[in-house]
Amino acid sequence: MTERRILVTSALPYANGHIHLGHLVEYLQTDIWVRFQKLRGNRCVYVCADDTHGTAVMISARKEGISEEELIGRMQKAHVDDFSGFDIEFDNYGSTHSPENRQLCAEFWKALRKAGLVIEKDVTQLFDPVAGTFLADRFVKGTCPFCKAPEQYGDSCDRCGHTYSPTDLIDPVSTLSGATPEVRSALHLFVQIEQLRSFLDQWTQSGDHLQPEVANYLKGHFLGEPLRDWDISRPAPYFGFEIPDSPGNYWYVWFDAPIGYMASTLQWCKRHGEQFDDWWKSDKTEIHHFIGKDITYFHTLFWPAMLKTAGYSLPKMVHIHGFLTVNGEKMSKSKGTFVRASTYLKRLDPSYLRYYYASKLTLRVEDLDMNLDEFVAKVNADMVGNVVNLASRTARFAEETGLAEAWPDDGGLFEQAARDGDAIADAYEACDYNRAMRLILAAGDRANQFVERAAPWNLKKDPSKANELRDACTIGLNLFRQLAVYLAPVLPKLARQTGELLNQPIRHWDESKRPLLGNPVSRFEHMMTRVRREQVDAMIDDTRDVAAPEAEKPAAQWMDGDEPLQAEPLAAQCTIDDFAKVDLRIARVVAAEEVPEAKKLLKLILSLGGEHRRTVFAGIKSAYKPEELVGRLVVCVANLAPRQMKFGMSEGMVVASGPGGSEIYLLSPDEGAKPGQRLH
Ligand code: MSP
Ligand code: ZN
Repeated sequence: MTERRILVTSALPYANGHIHLGHLVEYLQTDIWVRFQKLRGNRCVYVCADDTHGTAVMISARKEGISEEELIGRMQKAHVDDFSGFDIEFDNYGSTHSPENRQLCAEFWKALRKAGLVIEKDVTQLFDPVAGTFLADRFVKGTCPFCKAPEQYGDSCDRCGHTYSPTDLIDPVSTLSGATPEVRSALHLFVQIEQLRSFLDQWTQSGDHLQPEVANYLKGHFLGEPLRDWDISRPAPYFGFEIPDSPGNYWYVWFDAPIGYMASTLQWCKRHGEQFDDWWKSDKTEIHHFIGKDITYFHTLFWPAMLKTAGYSLPKMVHIHGFLTVNGEKMSKSKGTFVRASTYLKRLDPSYLRYYYASKLTLRVEDLDMNLDEFVAKVNADMVGNVVNLASRTARFAEETGLAEAWPDDGGLFEQAARDGDAIADAYEACDYNRAMRLILAAGDRANQFVERAAPWNLKKDPSKANELRDACTIGLNLFRQLAVYLAPVLPKLARQTGELLNQPIRHWDESKRPLLGNPVSRFEHMMTRVRREQVDAMIDDTRDVAAPEAEKPAAQWMDGDEPLQAEPLAAQCTIDDFAKVDLRIARVVAAEEVPEAKKLLKLILSLGGEHRRTVFAGIKSAYKPEELVGRLVVCVANLAPRQMKFGMSEGMVVASGPGGSEIYLLSPDEGAKPGQRLH
């Protein structure tokens, strides 16, 4: 089979919020698919970016008194950290606020103009007189004009599915300020997408590019009537790109966001000396978008229309997934189920979630429920109890001997699991990870039954059975390795550990087809520990704690997170007398040197004034150079019992905050404090 060339995208997360467990359904679904393609030997590139433009970012930046650029820079860093914490590996992670994106937007714009699709119309829009801005659809709530459901957004109704204009809402309210919006009029630019009707009918209904339920949904909801002109501009003030031939107007965020897929690809191309057109204008490249059901309209109607008009390739497939619910309900801040990626990572191994989502994802658009009891039970039973158990019950008995040189009789087990590889690959390819996981676990069950019968722990007791033991372990470990290959897209860490255990990295899917023979077996290290329900509960509690202050927004303008407090909760209460026992003094560092034998320590000579000197060993080497310290004031615990250390006597302690490493912060007093003064 010839190598395929595949470009993959996930939807670009908004820069005005943190990544949460709902988003991760998508980024994990996509990452697994990409890793699968790469493992199969296909040329696959995975790009994404932050979606930075629009009113929301503008308003948040305003609230904090910083520039939009600063806000999106900070958020991008947080997003990138969250993704890498979950082993989600992009080939390029860009931003829609990039020069590449501006350039491509201009090109698309020209094409739309040239095709005669752009018209101007006066639009009466809701204007928030308090915030001083026109209101994006999502910033207005009110009662649906069709079914009268309350609390609906300005663009469409959750209850009856109708789309409408925000000025049609009954009793509208600005979610920015709570003000009642005014109706004002301004010039807007529109794309007449109805002109691409026959193309869109054909493209969406061809059966090749969309899941059948999506094609039907489009037919039933949008394609049955004339497609409404698409309002593509917003008047200032707006954070975005100004439209070159329409000063004072900006492209609407949904115009430049999908173009961001291409801008991110362009950045990747520049870094790798690749031709952009090979990826976006060649029928040798398959383009696959992964998105959630809420943004179907943009990706299945507008986006193909834009690509078609600008002469670029159309997506081979738009893969659409449903929404995450937790314990059967919408994620909720007050219930603590609106869990941020970073909060999860503080308590739980990312592999758990990677596996759990994989086990739940099918090729359908259905919502996916994360039941927390099931999460614990499934991970423990399937991953720890089934897959990893196979290695832990065999590897330690093979450490001395390594794997056998010749393949022993295994009753056809390896062959059978090797044959399963095709069905498992088909399931991954179709995004039916649930089926892939079921096939893999069935192979795991068969392998575990084999190990159970062979009982290496018994063979070990009888020296005359050394060969039998080695054979049993060779079979058990090879059956395990097959599973590790099949699971590599889902559990890259397990695949890496398996490579280390058996001294042969897993690089290709086809490594599931041949057993390893004669390899040494390394010491078995723990691969995955059991999830404990308390960890999950702690994560939910953390989330509730994060949600509460956010709702009230007391210190929001400083953006101080509460991660430090979460990492180290407050100590038990103490009395003023307890505090008085600790004698804290201002001290001057008069000499500082490295302790060469100690990785973390600096030796400091502190002066408490006059001839009063103290030698202190401080664990701050990772953050401070000795020469930066000499002369400065610090705070020292002056009555701490002296402690004999390997390098000498330590006669006190300097106080500092921070988790360690490069993040250690010594305290210094305000101007005027003198060595020897006590802190009260
Ligand atoms: N910025 C737009 C996408 C622009 S793409 C050119 C956006 N951003 S988002 O941050 O709101 O969502 C990013 C992706 O995460 C979307 O595909 C969305 O469907 C998905 N999800 C967000 N919340 C989700 C759940 N609760 N459950 C599953 N997917 C969810 O939309
Ligand atoms: Zn309605």
